[in-house]
Amino acid sequence: MNKSHKRTLITSALPYANGPVHIGHLAGVYVPADIFARYLRLKGEETLFIGGSDEHGVPIALKAKAEGVTPQEVVDRYHYIIKKSFEDFGITFDIYSRTSSKIHHQTASEFFRKLYDKGEFIEKTSEQYYDDEAQQFLADRYITGKCPLCGNERAYGDQCEVCGTSLSPLELINPKSAISGSVPVLKATKHWYLPLDKHEKWLRKWILEDHKEWKSNVYGQCKSWLDTGLQPRAVSRDLDWGVPVPVEGAEGKVLYVWFDAPIGYISNTIEHSPDDWEKWWKSDDTKLVHFIGKDNIVFHCIVFPAMSKADGSYILPDNVPANEFLNLEGDKISTSRNWAVWLHEYLEDFPGKQDVLRYVLTANAPETKDNDFTWKDFQARNNNELVAVLGNFVNRALVLTHKFFDGKVPACGELTNYDRETIVEFVQVKHNLESNLDQYRFREALKEAMNLARIGNKYLADTEPWKVFKTDSQRAATILNIALQITANLAIAFEPFLPFSSEKIKQLLNCRHCEFDPQSSANTGDSNSRRNDGELKWNDLGKTDLLAANHPLNQPELLFEKIEDEAIERQIKKLQDSKKANELKAYQAVAVKPNIVFDDFTKLDIRTGKVLECVKVPKADKLLQFKIDDGLGGRTILSGIAQHYRPEELIGKQVCFIANLEPRKIKGIESQGMILSAENADGSLAVITPMRDVLAGSEVK
Ligand code: MF3
Ligand code: ZN
Repeated sequence: MNKSHKRTLITSALPYANGPVHIGHLAGVYVPADIFARYLRLKGEETLFIGGSDEHGVPIALKAKAEGVTPQEVVDRYHYIIKKSFEDFGITFDIYSRTSSKIHHQTASEFFRKLYDKGEFIEKTSEQYYDDEAQQFLADRYITGKCPLCGNERAYGDQCEVCGTSLSPLELINPKSAISGSVPVLKATKHWYLPLDKHEKWLRKWILEDHKEWKSNVYGQCKSWLDTGLQPRAVSRDLDWGVPVPVEGAEGKVLYVWFDAPIGYISNTIEHSPDDWEKWWKSDDTKLVHFIGKDNIVFHCIVFPAMSKADGSYILPDNVPANEFLNLEGDKISTSRNWAVWLHEYLEDFPGKQDVLRYVLTANAPETKDNDFTWKDFQARNNNELVAVLGNFVNRALVLTHKFFDGKVPACGELTNYDRETIVEFVQVKHNLESNLDQYRFREALKEAMNLARIGNKYLADTEPWKVFKTDSQRAATILNIALQITANLAIAFEPFLPFSSEKIKQLLNCRHCEFDPQSSANTGDSNSRRNDGELKWNDLGKTDLLAANHPLNQPELLFEKIEDEAIERQIKKLQDSKKANELKAYQAVAVKPNIVFDDFTKLDIRTGKVLECVKVPKADKLLQFKIDDGLGGRTILSGIAQHYRPEELIGKQVCFIANLEPRKIKGIESQGMILSAENADGSLAVITPMRDVLAGSEVK
């Protein structure tokens, strides 16, 4: 680590406020960033950890339109859900703000304006699709049409989601506006571009020569962008949701979301420390680290640095430890397919088990390649590692002390060679932890912390204090003293990873609280003050005198509990259900039946009728029996919708039915036709009914 840094500014990608957050977000960005922030704070380093919601962009505007609400309503809804999930999981942002705030609009606007005044942009007029009916330019996402490659009729102007190809709107066959459905026309529009090509030279040197230490996945992606050659990038859009372009004649134009979002890190810093924010952003002795997912690499390693350089007063990141993606049970996590484990739902199903998820996501973090989360692995890691290794050791040390020494830390006597060997081993853990954490290798670091618990377990198993006590209570005292010192060390080593459990260990050991307090996190830099305030600090790691003789302990409690098969099966079933629902949806989208001629259609006698009677068919849990007024004297029809309607809901309602279907006997009752229902993706049924009252027996055509 570069010793010339005085403080560390940690940013984590601002999640889009158009949905809740899931385990992929946590594993890829927020848990590693939080581990790093907690580690630095524990070391007493001056640290600021920035988070916030990314509230602009076309998908949010589109979602609002689809729901008939304002974009602000959409982001208000999700911002607070996301913020709460992060709080619940112990992500210790110093500030979690949002890009729809006034201060952000002002900061982003001024940032743009300065670059504009310095002549750092180029202006270009190009032809873009315009919706005459809605009187607005169409963002790429707002245009749909046929994919020129695979023929998918519902491809978007930026991408075809069936074949995955990126597209430009001009490539779409039969383009249509997603707003009005009309055919868009081409119209000239002016935009501002950041000429990345002009920045290529210094970027090449800065990344490819000066930052060879960046993770290989990050370095590799940058190199490939740079080798392909950088192009000017538009930083404005024709859209009515975002930060308005602060230039005369730019009405109806906003900053491109990827221009304003990273400035959100700066705005949130200003909001947090209005008086001294500049030391975080404009001082060379600040080390800036961006935690992001791999799809954000180009923006944080190339575009945002180019923006900062063009401004001239901002520092560049020291590192961008981007992660790859986390998959779920072998499939890509997808919001639209509901293939995800949502954080708020996890906590409903596993209350209080934040650390279990933090543990599994770190142990399995997609640091160098995509990785897979499976519920079986989740269960195994909880039961075999957290319960059997960490929890078991802490519990044994405490229970034995209560049993033999009245719950007070016994005094340490003379050490044996074996004691000394154990101590040498565990002192080494601090060094191993640090070298991994300093290089953003959180999986390895977690293994080292776990290793400390393994050392403890082995020590107890080898020394058997419960046997020794009978013949040599002084020796047993020494053994348990060492075991308890290891326990106190575990509270420190695990604090960055498992903050809730670390806190619990401290409580069991009756140590004074050192809960995170965001207000006082502008640290003192004094890491040797433990003896005064009773807190355990990073520098205490490796020490064997953390607990004084006779210090009273609290009653033992289990740190972790076993997760049973049923809980895991329930989660797997939940995922299977959403897979089934998706398959049905896909089926509805693609399985269009072959064309028929008109005569085929006229063979069907579809009519309306009024429900006179409706009862459940005994011993058939799906069937309802109807008496229908069909205008012809009435008929009986059976329909398999008993799980979707109560009979009394349907009496008096109008339905549609096929009147000339050959009668057939079901459960001994003759059914004279078929009532029509529509099936939802989840298999639920809705009876079809005419929009206005019509005479019973009217023909449907
Ligand atoms: N909202 C973006 C995403 O989820 C990330 C933005 S990071 C920021 O991919 F730096 F631009 F804020
Ligand atoms: Zn396609």
